[in-house]
Amino acid sequence: MGDRLNKLAAKLLNSSDGSHRARLIPVGGGKGGVGKSFVVANLAASLARLGHRVVAVDGDLEGPNLHTCVGVPRPRVSLADFVAQREEDLGKLLLDTPIPNLHLIAATDGNLATPQPTQSRRVHLMRELRELDADFVFFDLGAGTHAAVMDYFMIGDEGLIVIAPEPTSVENAYGFVRAAFYRRLRLAMASHDMRKIVTLAMDQRNERGIRTPLELLREIQMLDPAEGARFVETMHAFHPRIVMNDVRTADDIKLGFSIQSVCRKFFGIEAEYLGYVNHDESARRSVCARRPLIDVYPRSDAAIYISRIARKLLANGAAGDSPEGSA
Ligand SMILES: Nc1ncnc2c1ncn2[C@@H]1O[C@H](COP(=O)(O)OP(=O)(O)O)[C@@H](O)[C@H]1O
Ligand SMILES: [Mg+2]
Repeated sequence: MGDRLNKLAAKLLNSSDGSHRARLIPVGGGKGGVGKSFVVANLAASLARLGHRVVAVDGDLEGPNLHTCVGVPRPRVSLADFVAQREEDLGKLLLDTPIPNLHLIAATDGNLATPQPTQSRRVHLMRELRELDADFVFFDLGAGTHAAVMDYFMIGDEGLIVIAPEPTSVENAYGFVRAAFYRRLRLAMASHDMRKIVTLAMDQRNERGIRTPLELLREIQMLDPAEGARFVETMHAFHPRIVMNDVRTADDIKLGFSIQSVCRKFFGIEAEYLGYVNHDESARRSVCARRPLIDVYPRSDAAIYISRIARKLLANGAAGDSPEGSA
């Protein structure tokens, strides 16, 4: 059964480009409180203000609060209805927000007994999200590296990782990139045996002594050159995007570049440093006002940095370039 689902997920993964569909942008980062929901709400609002049709989805079924960030006080329906199979049509879960062109799929009233959807439900959800009538779909993943979170991140087109300039957040971000990459890799492997080796390597203390994706690559190249080639292809196609949030100093900004080079050196992965958002008291004030920052304090520094990232997303940083400006 796992293999069949894996195939389905792999198919979804490969169907991400081509036809005109919403750009699906999962936003994670491992750690809670780093500003994922804040960034999602404001990037979504920014693009909606520019006239794009945007849906912001709260995927954080265990700590939902995106509705508050975008200004929807009491969502009447939620993603939990889809997870519990009470509603099959995601379109019916779309809620209006105070911002024209911005709709929300909230995540309140989840089932505390089984908050995470099953894997087949997750694959179904991602497929339906792609079908939404929108230009952008942002998916707020919440904290952690639960299998559900990683599946969403991996199946989305252009996963974004929000990192705060603190060792705890950076540490969790590496864990997140590693988890996402290994899961994606496992899907890419055609043979059951190689998938087993990837699974084994996911355990940091595995008996084969594989510690990094590059060590895993060497092992797989040795055992099966065709799979090795698939590995390299997956590695080259994987471009997690980094947003540093709550930065206060030039060193905080530079940290994004350091993370980028660590990803290159140890993971063989080319991450893109999409930009940064400075620490700004008006960010907290906007959350307290239950509205996106770009709406209530459009001239604040953080709002300007957010708009810059939104424009960069529009210009589509398919190539990994660096953030503009400095602190
Ligand atoms: N750039 C920023 N400057 C100042 N405060 C921020 C900034 N970004 C986020 N915050 C504060 O951090 C809080 C937590 O952010 P949130 O988006 O809820 O985190 P997460 O979704 O990652 O758990 C926000 O409510 C806000 O008060
Ligand atoms: Mg959140």
